[in-house]
Amino acid sequence: MSPTASPIRHFLNTQDWSRADLDVLLAEAARCKREKPGDALKGKSIALVFFNPSMRTRTSFELGAFQLGGHAVVLQPGKDAWPIEFDLGTVMDGDTEEHIAEVARVLARYVDLIGVRAFPKFVDWQIDRQDRVLKGFAKYSTVPVINMETITHPCQELAHALALREHFGTEDLRGKKYVLTWTYHPKPLNTAVANSALTIATRLGMNVTLLCPTPEYVLDERYMGWARDNVAESGGSLTVSHDIESAYAGADVVYAKSWGALPYFGNWGPEKPIRDQYRHFIVDEAKMALTNSAVFSHCLPLRRNVKATDAVMDSPRCIAIEEAENRLHVQKAVMAALVRPHGRDS
Ligand code: CP
Repeated sequence: MSPTASPIRHFLNTQDWSRADLDVLLAEAARCKREKPGDALKGKSIALVFFNPSMRTRTSFELGAFQLGGHAVVLQPGKDAWPIEFDLGTVMDGDTEEHIAEVARVLARYVDLIGVRAFPKFVDWQIDRQDRVLKGFAKYSTVPVINMETITHPCQELAHALALREHFGTEDLRGKKYVLTWTYHPKPLNTAVANSALTIATRLGMNVTLLCPTPEYVLDERYMGWARDNVAESGGSLTVSHDIESAYAGADVVYAKSWGALPYFGNWGPEKPIRDQYRHFIVDEAKMALTNSAVFSHCLPLRRNVKATDAVMDSPRCIAIEEAENRLHVQKAVMAALVRPHGRDS
């Protein structure tokens, strides 16, 4: 079968899944959290391919597979597995030892699922925005592929959505004011979680404000476009703001993330003095006091007193730990859905 003609359902982005299917995943995740999770992966396995470090993702996927009766194999290409080539037609006389065309197809003969974490290389956004590593696995794999964070982080989206539903005690988050705020970090970070937060918050029909220091920090047009599409379909709204006070005013949710400004991608020197001017974007008690007793969260890892203060992190309104726990449950729901023989459309 041609790799491009594959009928396999992957979990690459939530935007590829219908709202009804996402709701099924979230309901199953909530059930996994309440009850014993079952044995949907009994006799099955997942390869977890990490090109970048992780604490939560690796732990929650490994344990989630185990708790469903399955087995996880962790591979780190370039460390404990061969470095992989993704370009087609390349004369492979450099550092890469095998091609994704072989890697993905061989892994798919061994395992039932493949998870991939591959951050941008931070040199050329026009290349990184193609998500070539994830798409390479999806193209050649004959088993479902799960995005464990590349230029989006859909598993984090589900964990975040579940935590918000739990906090507000309802599946209907329409009308909530949701602030996605950029925060300072000494390094220019991946936009993945910000892209994902924008995507899922608009998908759930919230009134979303993207708060960032300058227009240069607005996210890639692909994700801004998804957000506009979601608003058109789900209701809610999308606003870009560079004003802290009005953005926080009356907010029900504050979600923080740092990211590098895309116009400086690969040429980060001139971005640093700009970013350094906006250390005051830190989430602190004074800003949270402007909100409607907002809940605060972050994907973690988080540098305390850089992105958010100790007081915010230790507040009962911080649900970052709950969101992190939810990674375990939502990923079990995703893995179970993807290995279900006749359940791919459920
Ligand atoms: N939030 C998240 O993906 O954490 P890790 O980078 O530790 O996996």
